[in-house]
Amino acid sequence: MKRKGIILAGGLGTRLYPLTRVTNKHLLPIYDKPMIYFPLTTLMLAGIQEILVITTSEDLEKFRALLGNGSQWGIALDYAPQPSPAGLAQAFVIGEAFIGQSPVALILGDNIFFGHGLPDILQDATARSGVATVFSYYVADPSRYGIINFDAEGRPLDIQEKPKVPKSSFAVTGLYMYEPDVIDIAKSLRPSVRGELEITDVNLEYLKRGELEARRLGRGFAWFDAGTPDALSATSQYIQVIATRQSTRIACPEEVAFYMGFINAKELEAQTKPIADTPYGRYLTEILERN
Ligand code: TTP
Repeated sequence: MKRKGIILAGGLGTRLYPLTRVTNKHLLPIYDKPMIYFPLTTLMLAGIQEILVITTSEDLEKFRALLGNGSQWGIALDYAPQPSPAGLAQAFVIGEAFIGQSPVALILGDNIFFGHGLPDILQDATARSGVATVFSYYVADPSRYGIINFDAEGRPLDIQEKPKVPKSSFAVTGLYMYEPDVIDIAKSLRPSVRGELEITDVNLEYLKRGELEARRLGRGFAWFDAGTPDALSATSQYIQVIATRQSTRIACPEEVAFYMGFINAKELEAQTKPIADTPYGRYLTEILERN
């Protein structure tokens, strides 16, 4: 079965108040695009074409207006509400019917991944079955994250949620690949002290079963969680510098769809025409001319 994907774009975004008073965090700009384009294109680069966007009841229609049913990018997008931010693992309870018997990837809507060779790593993990995969990243401030430590052979030993005394500096990033049994695991969880169904508990269950693989994203990769004003600004600047220097656009769904073969040149051209006089439209025309 082909892996499906879920983007979790709910939450309260309290660390970004007042930016998030009337705008959902994942609709805020990262340089030249709405934040959600980044996790969306990450899933597309992983080869995933059936995607569920989970967001708050108030914001759901805004996401539908922005992204539509996905057919313009050769994918299928569906939407489901999360009535309150009851935790990341609730995605699998809300997404039960959508997931069915398929393996599934979950990406947090405010997580931005960038780096050479990322599509290969993602596609490799997407194609693996029988294991859960998480991606770890060396961070300066481990007590803010779920932290994973490894044995001498690089196998995961333990995961601590926001530890006061971290056993390593490897954070678990907001991209997770699971088997369909994640639904039962999520349903069996009890809310944590902070009242949430914790993704760390899902990962600990796979770890206990000996079915957790943790891939390290080395320093050739950038990983951002754009949930604070500083991170939002730093991520935008990073994307701006790379995009300007390389004269390219990052997280452009039309380009990714074309690159992945989800749409052909004719389909891309048709979408380019109505916006041909905009900078974005001119970029899409360039993509067509380059290929
Ligand atoms: P957080 O950054 O932990 O929470 P938040 O977005 O509500 O922000 P804040 O802490 O500033 O109030 O969430 C991580 C990501 O997961 C983010 O993209 C929002 C999303 N999320 C949900 O969609 N549902 C949830 O129940 C939770 C906890 C988070």
